[in-house]
Amino acid sequence: MTTIEACFAANKRWAEEAILKDPQYFKRLENLQEPDMLWIGCSDSRLPPNEIIGKAPGEVFVHRNVANLVEHTDVNCLSVLQYAVDVLKVKHVVVVGHYGCGGVRAAMQAKPLGLIDNWLRHIRDVHLWNRDELASIPDFNARVDRLAELNVEAQVANVCHTTILQDAWRRGQKVAVHGWIYALADGFLRDLGMNVESAEQIPPEYRLFY
Ligand code: CO
Repeated sequence: MTTIEACFAANKRWAEEAILKDPQYFKRLENLQEPDMLWIGCSDSRLPPNEIIGKAPGEVFVHRNVANLVEHTDVNCLSVLQYAVDVLKVKHVVVVGHYGCGGVRAAMQAKPLGLIDNWLRHIRDVHLWNRDELASIPDFNARVDRLAELNVEAQVANVCHTTILQDAWRRGQKVAVHGWIYALADGFLRDLGMNVESAEQIPPEYRLFY
């Protein structure tokens, strides 16, 4: 059971222990925000980004939302992406999905949840684009997991189609976009094999520059 008092008590212990271990810990952290990676992941509470990839605080810039979506009109996500690429000059943008994603699962069911159904609509689009492949998978959970992978691929494409990435590549800035998926069952990350490093890799229909 979470109580607010318990959070503050735990925080006090944590901060005191951190200082005991390393007296300069917070001093250093204060002056350090030089991440070379932007992580765009799911809000899922079981997914702590830094821990999974062995990064210390200050090393990963993070944006999270339900089902790790990158929508071309989402000012929140786009602002994070723009700041990460233009100001922090991250070298890698990673979209990280996970198997067993509740958002993906909800987008495969005819069961209304409220406002969030509008957000999850984007996953239904990905489902429709891949309906034949998904229909050939008999097990529902396996179908959810496959759609979670396809969703990551679609969001990687969305990152690459933004003005932000296309402008950066046009300027000659080195920044690569990747798609990963995380398995809660064993803790392992899987690389979906998408490495997009230039505008030549995106379909001409989405290109803003030739
Ligand atoms: Co999720």
